[in-house]
Amino acid sequence: MIKISNVSKSYVKNKKSIDSLDLEVKNGEIFGFLGPNGAGKTTTIRMITGILNPDEGDILIDGNSIKTNPIEAKKAIGFVPDSPDMFLRLKGIEYLNFMADVYDVPVETRKQKIEELTKKFEIYDDLNSQIQSYSHGMRQKIVICGALLSEPKNWILDEPMTGLDPKSSYDLKEMMKAHAKSGKTVFFFFFVLEVAEKICDRVGIINKGKLVFVGTLEEMKEKFKENGSLEELFLEITEE
Ligand SMILES: Nc1ncnc2c1ncn2[C@@H]1O[C@H](COP(=O)(O)OP(=O)(O)OP(=O)(O)O)[C@@H](O)[C@H]1O
Ligand SMILES: [Mg+2]
Repeated sequence: MIKISNVSKSYVKNKKSIDSLDLEVKNGEIFGFLGPNGAGKTTTIRMITGILNPDEGDILIDGNSIKTNPIEAKKAIGFVPDSPDMFLRLKGIEYLNFMADVYDVPVETRKQKIEELTKKFEIYDDLNSQIQSYSHGMRQKIVICGALLSEPKNWILDEPMTGLDPKSSYDLKEMMKAHAKSGKTVFFFFFVLEVAEKICDRVGIINKGKLVFVGTLEEMKEKFKENGSLEELFLEITEE
């Protein structure tokens, strides 16, 4: 469970990039967070994952504050950032072992987990190559595998489908559904509205640092009484 309470953040004086954000992502839920460029998505992710400190408010991960109990809070998070271009000189297997070390995954479990995940994403045979030789999609996949190794309760994914081929994208969506079904949390950030329609239990829309809507897609259609496509609806909600 992720609970964001009254969180604000400014990078420069008198301009709040996030303004009094209140949001709860429950156990057993896939929650999609949408917003136009510059709306505050990355800033929100950086605060949830403890990379940035909020100026005001607090964020609880399974009841642990990211401010006052950061290690416990972070242990419960699996994070897939939007850019998978990191640790390029490591071999795939070295990266996964590094992630397993960071998250204290026991040696026996990790072997089995690495095999299971990388076979699912069809990168098992590439684990002995350096990540810099991987394609964008393969880099995305290895980062996803690294984030899921410790079986974290809360998945935070920033545009995870970007760069994935249809099969891997399908597999990841199925994994997200299974994760939520087992009572855990999936919080993901994205642009592709059709994905939202297919897998999200609820969505939140952020615009200029403020949450402008939270609810199911049905509620969104109902509230804005728009007969057009989801895309038109989104544009209307986030318009000036
Ligand atoms: N390091 C920074 N210094 C100053 N302003 C920043 C910084 N990072 C972000 N901002 C500002 O904060 C606001 C929110 O930015 P953020 O990166 O969170 O948006 P986003 O929703 O992730 O956008 P995108 O879809 O383009 O990734 C923007 O107005 C941006 O200019
Ligand atoms: Mg961003």
